[in-house]
Amino acid sequence: MNHTSPPMSEKAWGGRFEEELDSVAARYSESVSFDQRLGAVDVRGSIAHVKMLASRSIVSAEDAAAIVAGLETIGEEIARGEMTWDPALEDVHMNVESRLSARIGAPGGRLHTGRSRNDQVATDMRLWTKEAIQGTCARLDRLLAVIVGRAPGLVDHLLPGYTHLQRAQPMRLAHHLLAWAEMLERDRGRLVDAATRMDECPLGSAALAGTTFDLDRAMTAEALGFARPTANSLDAVGDRDFLLETVSALSITAIHLSRIAEELVLWSTQEFGFVEMSDAFTTGSSIMPQKKNPDMAELVRGKTGRVVGDLVSLMMLMKALPLAYNRDMQEDKPPVFDAFDTVDDSLDVLAGSIEGARFDAKRMREALSRGFVDATEVADWLADHGVPFREAHHVTGALVKRCVDEGKTLAELPLEALREAHPAFDDTLYAALDPETAIERRALFGGPARARVDEQITAWRGRLAARGVEA
Ligand code: ARG
Repeated sequence: MNHTSPPMSEKAWGGRFEEELDSVAARYSESVSFDQRLGAVDVRGSIAHVKMLASRSIVSAEDAAAIVAGLETIGEEIARGEMTWDPALEDVHMNVESRLSARIGAPGGRLHTGRSRNDQVATDMRLWTKEAIQGTCARLDRLLAVIVGRAPGLVDHLLPGYTHLQRAQPMRLAHHLLAWAEMLERDRGRLVDAATRMDECPLGSAALAGTTFDLDRAMTAEALGFARPTANSLDAVGDRDFLLETVSALSITAIHLSRIAEELVLWSTQEFGFVEMSDAFTTGSSIMPQKKNPDMAELVRGKTGRVVGDLVSLMMLMKALPLAYNRDMQEDKPPVFDAFDTVDDSLDVLAGSIEGARFDAKRMREALSRGFVDATEVADWLADHGVPFREAHHVTGALVKRCVDEGKTLAELPLEALREAHPAFDDTLYAALDPETAIERRALFGGPARARVDEQITAWRGRLAARGVEA
């Protein structure tokens, strides 16, 4: 080859173009300001691609070696934050390729053989997202470890469980925390599922119709850690459902985090007084000196809106797009990056908040004494003594009404008052009203009895240990 490649610029599109891109259009369409985050995976993808080209003698071993060395240097520049990203070069791919040609000269122009930015960006996003999911799973594991780690110390913290935010039945705080753990574990599972489904390499799909070059698609797939190459070139460059699925899973995670956060906000009010958040995760008021506000939990709650907004952006982006690649799809990146950043930070903030939270066993116990959380025990006691449950429910309801009128608790009603309501009552009822007794009688698998909670703590520790996480 005796001619040199033209320098890459707005005219990189070659001979067809005479005029430069309009300056507003250039600013409007550049993506390197955000897709530079793909720099490391873009370089890795290119190294795998060119090594494969050499193995198939599509480029010479010599040129491939020069390209690999050049790309490795660029990879290091990117890692050190020293790469200069030029918006005039549009996106991360053109920036890396242009930098390569600037460093190594003519051989750089051979890297893009048998490839398009369409299969390149689809590959980059899969690589980036798979790694990001691993990072989020590690953070989920850390939060799980914090929750499971606190549970043994909270088995004897008895509090009301709520339905409709009304006191319902007695509960162990450890059981409540392990409910959070179940929610988060499913979130983790959804992310892992998404990562498994996206684990296919688009390289070789080229722009949309594959390529005439005899590429070894299995080789690049394997080199990049994918399970296999994608099976349809149009689909591989034309869909982003793997991002919809991932950000859906992140949105559900964020919604779970918002529910946990909301409980911490509620519990830290004067009205509940169940928890005091640590100073490290609360702020004061600029005007009210007494305030200790649960701002971090509130922000976890609030930022959930952003994540769901990211999902809606992506859904709208993809709706009704014809196959295959469309430039619209360049807009997939900001919402994906934002969803990961937001959920990752929220997970860390909640882990720190829960780790340092002081739970007030006394306040929780006091909350059990009002609100008739023992009413179900009365009804169950009657049913146990031969009264049909519907009748037992009705009788108990009338007793609760009497208590409300007389300002009493059920336990404060004398036996005669109970007998007036139903002759089956005897004084063994009173023992059944104790919250701990009520909890211990709920000993089915999945229930709050001490033995069941202890078993779950052990099971959780085992599950986390199998993933190398200590709780
Ligand atoms: N920056 C583009 C994106 O993220 C890369 C693919 C561009 N392909 C094209 N045919 N213009 O979608």
